[in-house]
Amino acid sequence: PITAKVNSHDHLEIGGCDVKNLVQQFGSPLYIVDEETLRTTCRQYRDSFQRYYKGCSQVLYASKAWSLTAICAIVHSEGLGIDVVSGGELYTALNAGVNPSQIYLHGNNKSRQELVFAIESNITIVVDNWYELETLVELASTTSEAVRIMLRLTPGIECHTHEYIRTGHLDSKFGFDPNQLGEVFEYVSKQSKLNCVGVHAHIGSQIFERQPHRDLAAVMVQWLEQAASYGLAITELNVGGGLGTKYIESDDPPSIEEWVKPICEVIQSACEKLSLPLPKLLSEPGRSLIATSCVTAYTIGSSKQIPGIRNYIAVDGGMSDNPRPITYQSVYRAVVANKMSDKCSETVTVAGKHCESGDILIKNAELPLTQPEDILVVMATGAYNYSMASNYNRLPRPAAVLVSNGEANIILQRETYQDLIRQDCLPERLKNSAE
Ligand code: LLP
Repeated sequence: PITAKVNSHDHLEIGGCDVKNLVQQFGSPLYIVDEETLRTTCRQYRDSFQRYYKGCSQVLYASKAWSLTAICAIVHSEGLGIDVVSGGELYTALNAGVNPSQIYLHGNNKSRQELVFAIESNITIVVDNWYELETLVELASTTSEAVRIMLRLTPGIECHTHEYIRTGHLDSKFGFDPNQLGEVFEYVSKQSKLNCVGVHAHIGSQIFERQPHRDLAAVMVQWLEQAASYGLAITELNVGGGLGTKYIESDDPPSIEEWVKPICEVIQSACEKLSLPLPKLLSEPGRSLIATSCVTAYTIGSSKQIPGIRNYIAVDGGMSDNPRPITYQSVYRAVVANKMSDKCSETVTVAGKHCESGDILIKNAELPLTQPEDILVVMATGAYNYSMASNYNRLPRPAAVLVSNGEANIILQRETYQDLIRQDCLPERLKNSAE
């Protein structure tokens, strides 16, 4: 977080709040969201597009990274729209007061119920496949106004990131096959109740390379040209998200500006060459918008020394609040919030508390000497941590606080044991045997 500093107690302070005090007040583990970092990042995206793109632009926050009412509200107050991928994320965005004209629904298998919810909410639906397209034609036949849609296409662009988070290659479950482009455009152009405003593509996530998004921008302008030949007036072009985040020192992603600039340039020069009007340019960053705005504070507990092999320290959370290391072998960096000036003197493996050997948050972290009750802070946990969190081993999910100018406000309550059993049902005939 940009407001992080070390205070006179040698403690980590974020948003003017002492992290150790936050843990005392709100419990552990705790997600801590720095409002200023989040707002600054939103502005960097918005301003970069305004600076480098001569046409109209709109940044959408890919809320799958962390769909939470307060986060959607902050991001929207900075002028961003929201990309949602389910009825639940749509419900959250609406609850945050996001303007429906700035909400876009994704998904490769949206349910009929989700589609109806989207239509009734007057948002834009990013159509992924033929089945969905045909379902929408049917649903739109009874609506008074045409349904606003975009088409998601698979661009056939490879990028080097974890195979689970690559989406642009041809063998992807998302989007229409680009070989069927003509057929799709022709079909859509004949639908009076579908108002197709644009095309969309997303090539993957945690991308550090600079070329794939340039290639994508060029391919997408060709789609615009093709759409025009079918009489489709496509005015919006959405290049997706994907910019990588710096999790550890050796990570070297482009800056937001470095990511935005070439995309704008490629689109502008390609449109000029083809004498096409500039489309409204949309993008939908998730990770790079939220990751560095949040840290997770844990309390250190037990430890285990295996001479000559490894030293473990364990924290009071793990794969349930951050499933990324066990899922994608993701790497994170940590500090000890109450020993900020102590020299790193130990190489330790930070384990979670789950009944699973793979529940390791950080392998071989360089840390100062720690003891039980020290506060370990894992950095850059804003993206795909809480949104992918679970109750594995029936751990209640952590709380989240928003910090700003020395003030801390709860934006997500800690789950309780009662919350954990709220949906449990005990059939009448089992009640006696449970006594
Ligand atoms: N747009 C679409 C259509 C997407 O599928 C995604 C991410 C985004 C935008 C945002 O991409 P970002 O800017 O965050 O890279 N759970 C994985 C990441 C999955 C990304 C899925 N789609 C992880 O923790 O790494």
